[in-house]
Amino acid sequence: MATWAIRRLDKAHDRSSFHSGQPLLDDWLKERAGQFDRRDLTRTFVATRPNEQLALGYYAISTHRVIFDTLPNAETKGLPRLEIPVVLIGRLAVDQSVQGQGLGAFLLIDALRKSLQISEQVGIRAVEVDAIDDNARAFYLKFGFRSLLDDNQHLFLPMHEVRKLKLDIP
Ligand SMILES: CC(C)(COP(=O)(O)OP(=O)(O)OC[C@H]1O[C@@H](n2cnc3c(N)ncnc32)[C@H](O)[C@@H]1OP(=O)(O)O)[C@@H](O)C(=O)NCCC(=O)NCCS
Repeated sequence: MATWAIRRLDKAHDRSSFHSGQPLLDDWLKERAGQFDRRDLTRTFVATRPNEQLALGYYAISTHRVIFDTLPNAETKGLPRLEIPVVLIGRLAVDQSVQGQGLGAFLLIDALRKSLQISEQVGIRAVEVDAIDDNARAFYLKFGFRSLLDDNQHLFLPMHEVRKLKLDIP
């Protein structure tokens, strides 16, 4: 059986004890994720053990735009000087009890797979993340993300590179 299961946030999820070590990310899951979902601002996906409800990790995604001038030169070739449509992984965190066991990678791959799926229907140039600190930045760099020019914790991964990962999409 798979180690983790991911599904869209619902009322059955137990979020009350979620603790990633980043209070902002913990509070957001407990207090804001539901509201943001109801208002169609973000979708939150929660990881549990299969057939359990305890939230062990999550990510939240929405569409966003990146300012053209923040793209590194190598990324601007052939693009109009317009804002660039992206999927934003606004938040991603793993409970401290299971950090270092591959769940962060599992969540990120799931978010990339969803981005790929969305990009089949809507123009999406890249996946964007705002790393909360240098540790989070190091995590994303491992997966090929790189910095935009405005802030080195502001990162992106072009869709053509996500495509090369050959993730299965339903
Ligand atoms: C960053 C975070 C999501 C990583 O989750 P995790 O489940 O511990 O990470 P994983 O076990 O899936 O690790 C996946 C890979 O990333 C690496 N990695 C994990 N954390 C890392 C870090 N801080 N720096 C560099 N690499 C890191 C692992 O070594 C692993 O690489 P490997 O496959 O070559 O061994 C988690 O530590 C966390 O929630 N931290 C607090 C919140 C946070 O910083 N969120 C980031 C979004 S802003």
